[in-house]
Amino acid sequence: MSIKFEPDRWLESAKEWALHAGGMMQQGRANAEFKRDYKAGHELVTSVDLAVDDYLCTQIVSTFPGHLILSEESSPDLNVAMASDVPVWVIDPIDGTVNFAQGLPHVAVSIAVFYRGERWVGVVYGPFLNEMYSAVKGKGAWLNDRPISVSGRNVLRNAVVATGFPYQRDTLYELMGYVTAVLANCQDIRRNGSAALDLCAVANGQMDAYYENVKPWDMAAGALIAEEAGATIGAFGAQRAEWPKAINGDSLIVATPELYDAINTLLQESRIELSV
Ligand code: IPD
Ligand code: CA
Ligand code: CA
Repeated sequence: MSIKFEPDRWLESAKEWALHAGGMMQQGRANAEFKRDYKAGHELVTSVDLAVDDYLCTQIVSTFPGHLILSEESSPDLNVAMASDVPVWVIDPIDGTVNFAQGLPHVAVSIAVFYRGERWVGVVYGPFLNEMYSAVKGKGAWLNDRPISVSGRNVLRNAVVATGFPYQRDTLYELMGYVTAVLANCQDIRRNGSAALDLCAVANGQMDAYYENVKPWDMAAGALIAEEAGATIGAFGAQRAEWPKAINGDSLIVATPELYDAINTLLQESRIELSV
């Protein structure tokens, strides 16, 4: 099957599906009709996560047969060799599941297209915030059809930095080392509970930087949106080889270009080596 390179069509599809997915979240919350379950002991997943995942996968398969899917809920493993020449839809049906279940607003669906080693399309839609972020590689980033850009903050002391914490708490000591360093050297820290929206907040100039260890589906769309809005993206520590670089969320750091080196150095110098 020949694959067409059509990022604008991928974007339009992603936006349409994100709107529908957001409607499913609003309806699920309004009717309080969702079930809660726990993966790997204490990682929350609701029936709405699974329903949105099913909806998105069905749309992708029927609209773009031959494309691959990397999804948190139904296909979390990527055959990197197979993916080398085929568009891969990287999706998180609900980013911010704990917020969703608690009735908090920072909740999003995240949809990206990764192709030939690059992020091409990113859509992050927060239905409870009425925020549709989008980007196509090389064409800029948008919030509800308005172009957005990073804050331009250049003084570490004045920077507001977003982060998040994994469900597995086995690196707590190390995480607290980073938090201590950021609190001691920056304006403040925020933990809003959605990595995708944290990345968009950097893109939109509401946050000056963001760091965390996350998975491809948490960051693929938001990283493109932040990059297209002018952010610098990199890693403050080691990255496992199992994910291609453009969708590797290990040690992820995103900041205004002026702050990037200072925050990167701060995190690297505050790293606490865990003795085993
Ligand atoms: C989580 C959120 C959270 C981040 C966690 C993620 P989920 O995703 O993005 O902000 O701190 O690392 O796992 O589980 O709500 O899709
Ligand atoms: Ca997520
Ligand atoms: Ca999720």
